[in-house]
Amino acid sequence: MKFSEASELDKKHVFQTYRRTPLMLDRGAGVYVYDDSGNRYLDFVTGLAVNALGHCNKRVTAAISAQARKLSHVSNLYYTEPMLRLAGRLTSLSGMDKAFFCNSGAEANEAAIKLVRRFHSEVLKDGRYEVICFKNSFHGRTLMTLTATGQDVYKKGFDPLAPGFKHAVFNDIASVEKAITKKTAAIMIEPVQGEAGIYPASPKFMRGLATLRNKHGIQLIFDEVQCGLGRTGTWFAFEHYRVRPDAVTLAKPIGGGLPLGVMMARGKLAEGFAPGAHATTFGGGPVACAAANAFLDEVEEKKLLDNVKAMGELITADVEKLRRTGLGIREVRGKGLMLAVELENDIAADAAAFFMRNGVLINAIRSNIIRILPPFIIEKKQAGEFTRLLEEFLRARAGSEKEK
Ligand SMILES: Cc1ncc(COP(=O)(O)O)c(C=O)c1O
Repeated sequence: MKFSEASELDKKHVFQTYRRTPLMLDRGAGVYVYDDSGNRYLDFVTGLAVNALGHCNKRVTAAISAQARKLSHVSNLYYTEPMLRLAGRLTSLSGMDKAFFCNSGAEANEAAIKLVRRFHSEVLKDGRYEVICFKNSFHGRTLMTLTATGQDVYKKGFDPLAPGFKHAVFNDIASVEKAITKKTAAIMIEPVQGEAGIYPASPKFMRGLATLRNKHGIQLIFDEVQCGLGRTGTWFAFEHYRVRPDAVTLAKPIGGGLPLGVMMARGKLAEGFAPGAHATTFGGGPVACAAANAFLDEVEEKKLLDNVKAMGELITADVEKLRRTGLGIREVRGKGLMLAVELENDIAADAAAFFMRNGVLINAIRSNIIRILPPFIIEKKQAGEFTRLLEEFLRARAGSEKEK
């Protein structure tokens, strides 16, 4: 199918909820994707942080096909080995006690909120239900996670939203303290705000949240859907802060490209669910969990967390050097391979179009912010390609501004 036919079918038969890039992707291999005409692109969008091992990783695809041939679905009425192996590995990596499997980040966050509410209602019986979230956060598109999200633009037209959510200011501990009441059950935060434009929480702020948690008996939920599972150079972003949450959510990369989400909790909070309290038909299916086990094997065996750290530092240092040349970069920020370049002008969409014309996919997440989420397997040459093109784009821009 060619692009012209695809865009016509899309307009005719698909809800127009996405602003798609005019590009029809056909296949992927490693760090590259190919369009319908066979053009190659270095993929620094990675399906929005999903394809952490690049495309069609051999170990993951082999695990998926072997499991699909053996047993693809049976429902959570029965035990299956891939899910139980995965639960053991993830709880051990995170220091959590129990896992609930679902199919997306929004569902994982929804499960965390439900767990906290049920824990306070049925276990502690203290009537607390409020969740303090943060301005500019993103937690998903179900009605509950949309309410938790701290961006009004996504909420317009969906009233009435769920009650019981407040929004404090990210990295401002006084605003959190002010928001706490006798009804506060939890604080929910992305340790690195992703969709807002890659803003890491400060270590002081995270320690402050832990102190408030201990002082007020509040549950700390970390949404690591985007920043978790190696993206920042450690398995969990919270490891950078040495603050352990009471619950943590994951999704995006975990299924090696298949839909899979997980919510984990520890301690007494993990007793908040009982049989029948929460469920989903597809959650933790054998194929997605086999893919996830293969994903973990690959990251461990190839020591990819070290590569994430090294490549993240390399790109950051190169862009920082470029920033100092005064070509219009305001800031480069992020952790590991979850990076943003903030520009002085609103030209991020032009930059993304320029990169695409030159065979690299990046994401213009705000009018002046570029987000890159490269695969964990990138090499120096590919990391350098990003900075090289950024410089070329900014120099061309500066030249055309001068001519005006
Ligand atoms: C931090 C965070 N939480 C939750 C979600 C929602 O995940 P999903 O789109 O899988 O529902 C996202 C998606 O971008 C996210 O970045």
